Amino acid sequence: MPSPVRTLFVTTALPYANAPFHIGHIMEYVQADIWVRFQRMRGNAVHFVCADDTHGAPIMLQAEKEGISPEELIARVGASHRDDWKRYLISFDTVHSTHSPENTELAQSIYRALAARGLVTTRSIEQFYDPVKGMFLPDRYIKGTCPKCGAKDQYGDACEVCGSTYAPTDLVEPYSTITGARPELRASEHLFFRLSAPEVVSFLKTWTAAPAPGETLQPEVYNKVQEWLGDDGRKLADWDISRDAPYFGIEIPDQPPGSARKYFYVWLDAPIGYLAALKKHFDSGAARAQGEPRSFDEFVADPKVEQFHFIGKDIVYFHTLFWPAMLHFAGRKTPTNVFVHGFITASGEKMSKSRGTGVSPQRYLDLGLDPEWLRYYIAAKLNSHVEDIDFGPDDFVARVNSDLIGKYVNIASRAAPFITRHFGGALATPAESENDRANRLTTAQMDAEAARAHYEARDYGKVLRDAMRIADRINEAFDAAQPWLLAKDPAARDRLQTVCSQALQGFQSLSVMLAPVLPQVASRVARQLFGLGRDFTWKDAWAEPAKIAGFKHLMARVDPKQVEALLGIEADPGNGGRSSAARAAAGATAGASASAGAGAGAAKAAPPIAIDDFAKVELRIARIVAAEAVDGSDKLVKLTLDIGEANPRTVFAGIKGAYAPDALVGRLTPMVANLAPRKMRFGVSEGMVLAASGDGPGVYLLAPDSGAIPGMRVK
Ligand code: 2FM
Ligand code: ZN
Repeated sequence: MPSPVRTLFVTTALPYANAPFHIGHIMEYVQADIWVRFQRMRGNAVHFVCADDTHGAPIMLQAEKEGISPEELIARVGASHRDDWKRYLISFDTVHSTHSPENTELAQSIYRALAARGLVTTRSIEQFYDPVKGMFLPDRYIKGTCPKCGAKDQYGDACEVCGSTYAPTDLVEPYSTITGARPELRASEHLFFRLSAPEVVSFLKTWTAAPAPGETLQPEVYNKVQEWLGDDGRKLADWDISRDAPYFGIEIPDQPPGSARKYFYVWLDAPIGYLAALKKHFDSGAARAQGEPRSFDEFVADPKVEQFHFIGKDIVYFHTLFWPAMLHFAGRKTPTNVFVHGFITASGEKMSKSRGTGVSPQRYLDLGLDPEWLRYYIAAKLNSHVEDIDFGPDDFVARVNSDLIGKYVNIASRAAPFITRHFGGALATPAESENDRANRLTTAQMDAEAARAHYEARDYGKVLRDAMRIADRINEAFDAAQPWLLAKDPAARDRLQTVCSQALQGFQSLSVMLAPVLPQVASRVARQLFGLGRDFTWKDAWAEPAKIAGFKHLMARVDPKQVEALLGIEADPGNGGRSSAARAAAGATAGASASAGAGAGAAKAAPPIAIDDFAKVELRIARIVAAEAVDGSDKLVKLTLDIGEANPRTVFAGIKGAYAPDALVGRLTPMVANLAPRKMRFGVSEGMVLAASGDGPGVYLLAPDSGAIPGMRVK
């Protein structure tokens, strides 16, 4: 094995072991995996590890709710995580768990080192305690009435109605969301890591600005960190690192005799899980199998080993302040860098499970969509900044079908058959001058060099934009040469072989460039198409393949219907389907006419229902605060409805033929407020309004008598 140029230790954030992955997780894994695969193709040694983040109150309470032990919960969720990592082709070398002997030992030893330096202090703090449950309540389990605006059922840190922030102890009539009990204030001793100690602040100022401000940390991350650090005497707050029993976590060692058991706060042992996973990677022999001869301890102490963490923008504080400070003052090496990404939205909306929107990565695969399409799409959207990216269904289909298949795969599927049929698979460029050939390969090398720089900087969008430009160039040259005519002319045989071989050499270059993103496709291209007997390395980008072993199907097109199924998009009436909004009107018709008896609009009566069935429908009075015709639909109007909630609802109603949108604004109408949100072509519909109609034309929106106000329940 040639000795590697660089040796890297790379992680993603460790996922909580209480839920399957959402698309945001997959985005991060894909981002890191592309970078790692790229580094490996360059000949660098990469140790890429992950683990489940298993501790903390939410996991403990969820297991309890399910009637299982936390160990059972984390094993079950851990299995689903491992499955998804594999299915999305994430090439972790080792995956482990923070609930492990390695993590216990490392967390306790790092803690002891910090304590020995005088950086751990004890303070008594007052916190809410649930007397029924017998535990101190994390803030997220406390709700109550907002002290500013009086809104009920607000969380302990901020009011979702008026936006004000406060401490949980400021809530009026607080209650525990676990038992409903009124929490009591109780004091207990907590351990704090002294982030405010002058030596810690001074270390962090240096670490975050090295080697020059904004050159290691991304500039926007650097700026944020400077705000936290402050420059005019403002100080970082010490960090509460202990939790009282009951808690699912790692016990804090060396507590005074007779004192109650204490556990590390999950965020203390979570990043230490990076090291625990790496230790497992070494102790299991996996690192050695990758050609690393040293022990874990030797490896982590080597200043030449580079250490990178890919993380989301919500956990920057932990990774740029707590984590390097803990490592440094425990006498360990600090990370080389943390790479921060933004969030992923769907059609511009924040993904929300509770509202039923979003792209489920499990459903994506279960519907038979190709994981490499999603990897390609995510890569096309990513850059080196902390920017949110959006999953747009039409954009997804266009990028896969027009770019990936239409431009890239197309080259091989058009050029390869000529070479197989007319030249027995042999590639050669007899009609090209030596000079032109040298220039062509130099260009390929320069293109690869540009891609290298973009990959290194995690600017994958640029890599793929350049790759598509190169694919255009290759396709244009191929078309201009008209190989289908050359194939008919025996005198043009050399020219035909040259043109097709040039296209296929270009295809190899592109395949190398795309290999970090499309590992399976690239592997098939290397092994099956070019018969290399191995996967590509970076230098293959400017090498000339000698033959093709035959062209096999590389990748299918995406069917837009698959994407619609993924998003739960229903066809709108204008497109031949029946939307939820249309059903709203139709449903109201049946109900109204059935109770009205036989009339002009009478429809067949529905079977009787019990009052309990009716009670399941939450009808509320809504005020139409905005209405606009939906472009591209001949039936839908987009309504913005105030039903007394913090945020107005959006509902698509099939009433365009009956009402001018402007005439609807200000009207009151009943709506079904508890209908599950439905994703439609034009957005998410969050309920339905009620209208009457009969067999003939005409749709009539219902209206309450005067005196009704938005939010009133209709019973
Ligand atoms: O935010 C999260 O999902 C955490 N589980 C990330 C932990 S990263 C590391 F510190 F383990
Ligand atoms: Zn409020």
